[in-house]
Amino acid sequence: MNEQDTHHPGSEVAPTPEHGTAVRLDEGHIVGDGGLPERFANPGLPAHVARAADLDEGAARRAEKQVATLFGLSILGTLLFIVFYFAIDLDQTVFIPGIGVTNASNVALGVTLAMGLLGIGFGAVHWAKTLMPDEESVEERHPLRASDESRDRVVAVLAEGGESSQITRRPLIKYTLGGALGLFAVPLVLQVAGSLGPMPQKSLSLTFWNGGPSGPGEEPEFRPLRLMRDPENTPVKAEDVTIGSVFHIMPEGLLPDPETGEGGTKHLLEEKAKAAVILIRLDEEIIESQKQRDWGYQGIVAYSKICTHVGCPVGLYEQQTHHLLCPCHQSTFDVPRDCKVIFGPAKRPLPQLRITVDDEGYLVSAAPFAEAVGPSFWERG
Ligand code: FES
Repeated sequence: MNEQDTHHPGSEVAPTPEHGTAVRLDEGHIVGDGGLPERFANPGLPAHVARAADLDEGAARRAEKQVATLFGLSILGTLLFIVFYFAIDLDQTVFIPGIGVTNASNVALGVTLAMGLLGIGFGAVHWAKTLMPDEESVEERHPLRASDESRDRVVAVLAEGGESSQITRRPLIKYTLGGALGLFAVPLVLQVAGSLGPMPQKSLSLTFWNGGPSGPGEEPEFRPLRLMRDPENTPVKAEDVTIGSVFHIMPEGLLPDPETGEGGTKHLLEEKAKAAVILIRLDEEIIESQKQRDWGYQGIVAYSKICTHVGCPVGLYEQQTHHLLCPCHQSTFDVPRDCKVIFGPAKRPLPQLRITVDDEGYLVSAAPFAEAVGPSFWERG
């Protein structure tokens, strides 16, 4: 800091023994030996005291190995993170004394990520404390663009810094630090890429109605599935669906037993979120399109319950107007006209699920959804 920066209107600059100048902040109030604590009067680091590594090359080599060991631990932690990321199933659990049963993947990834991060941190601190110069240097402020001479000097200083931090002479530190920092980016990229999940359009094209679990890597083969009431998990007979009635439906095999909580599919919430269907019986006379009539059964039609705007559940049915409403942003779908959008921000009709009945008269799916369910913006481009 130079004089110009600290000299306020109405203040004076007076000489002091320590720094050559002392600065008056206000009338009659002097910084330096005039009353402020020592740390303000003489800011900065204590005077340099030679360390073991400054005096003894053996001690410096020991410090170098310690720093390299810490960076090495970071490398090990990061490599283990990558291995565990792929090797440990997300549903796997582990018992930890004092904590109990917990998610194994979270524990393994947390510990190894901490190891990777702390290895770099402790290594850098130890390096700074043992080998890097700890003398305080003062740099004067200059105009924004430095002169060519100064710029050359900066380059020289950087080179000198490399030399004095010993990174140029200590290849073990240079390479282990490079490895630790370089590898540390990998888990971050993996975390971000992995957390984004599969491509939405693909994942929303596949639902439990395709024949079973539809998670990443699963391509179920189509089989007819009974339409089950949610949450009772009981099948629906066509004769039970009267005109004007509405049922919230899930595919057979998705929900667990409501009494015992047993059964059901893995990744229940994800599957439910994609497979939810709303079942309505209309007077066949008012259904406009032949396709809609063919894909239903005697006026009973099934539609994806996921709004094509941004995916809220479309759960409000107006019996008089035959409109389905999304409570989030009021998109309104006209059921007898192929569930077309008649109001609101949604851009396409709700996808229809083709249904029929089985030998016992229960409603079953006749085909999976013919298009992706949910928000339509995934389909752009
Ligand atoms: S999510 Fe349905 S209208 Fe916005």
